[in-house]
This record gives sequence, structure tokens and C-alpha cells, in this order.
Amino acid sequence: MGRWVAEQHDTAVLPEHRGGGLARWMKARQTLRLHELFPTVESVTVTVNQQDAPMLAVNRAVGYRLVRERLLVEVSTHRLKGGPRCGPARG
Ligand SMILES: CC(C)(COP(=O)(O)OP(=O)(O)OC[C@H]1O[C@@H](n2cnc3c(N)ncnc32)[C@H](O)[C@@H]1OP(=O)(O)O)[C@@H](O)C(=O)NCCC(=O)NCCS
Repeated sequence: MGRWVAEQHDTAVLPEHRGGGLARWMKARQTLRLHELFPTVESVTVTVNQQDAPMLAVNRAVGYRLVRERLLVEVSTHRLKGGPRCGPARG
């Protein structure tokens, strides 16, 4: 049987309450609760922007370790509309 992995998304603290340890507490508490409710889950994954220093600090403090990096690319849809560059995607 494969390993059970949970995903966690979208941690947020209101600006006026940041810097007081709330996010660290939430993530630590959430992980403990997850383990209580779903003991077969072996790990938790999160995706974080590598420029989001506060979130990276929180994740490190709670015990998350970098396992993989992902490159996101983006194109404006205006460039795709009927222009000369419109054609089959090549990757
Ligand atoms: C990320 C976020 C949830 C952190 O909430 P928080 O309650 O302020 O977090 P904590 O107080 O528990 O910890 C913040 C940590 O970031 C560090 N930090 C804050 N600003 C920093 C900066 N500019 N550079 C480096 N570290 C920074 C603090 O020193 C602290 O780490 P430490 O305890 O080791 O000193 C909050 O900033 C937020 O809601 N941001 C907007 C939403 C977001 O980006 N969410 C993540 C995407 S899912």
C-alpha cells in the first residue's frame, strides 16, 4: 500500500496580528490534530512561494523540509487571441 500524504493550503493571518507566532501555532496544532484524527497519514505537503520569507520561516520552524522545487510560468491570454503567434502548443 502507498504512503498516505496530506496536503495543506492557504495559511493566512490578518496583517494586524502577524509576527506573534499565530501561524506557527496554527500549523503545529493542525499537524498534531491531523495525526490524532488520521494516524495513517505519514506526511504533510505544502507549496510555498520561495519569496514568502515569513511563510518559509514558519514552515521551517514547524519542521517542513524542502523536497522539490517547481517552476510556474504564465502567459497573457491577450497574446493568444487571434494573433500571428496563435497556433498549436509546443510545450
Ligand atoms: C505567512 C503568515 C501566515 C505568517 O503569519 P504570522 O502569524 O505572522 O507568523 P508567525 O508570527 O508564526 O511567524 C512569522 C515568522 O516569519 C518571520 N518573518 C516575518 N517577516 C519576515 C521577513 N520579511 N523575512 C524573514 N522572516 C520574516 C518572523 O521572524 C517569524 O519567524 P520566527 O518566529 O522564526 O522569528 C502571514 O504573514 C500571512 O498571512 N501572509 C499572507 C498570506 C500568505 O502569504 N500565506 C502563505 C501562502 S499559503
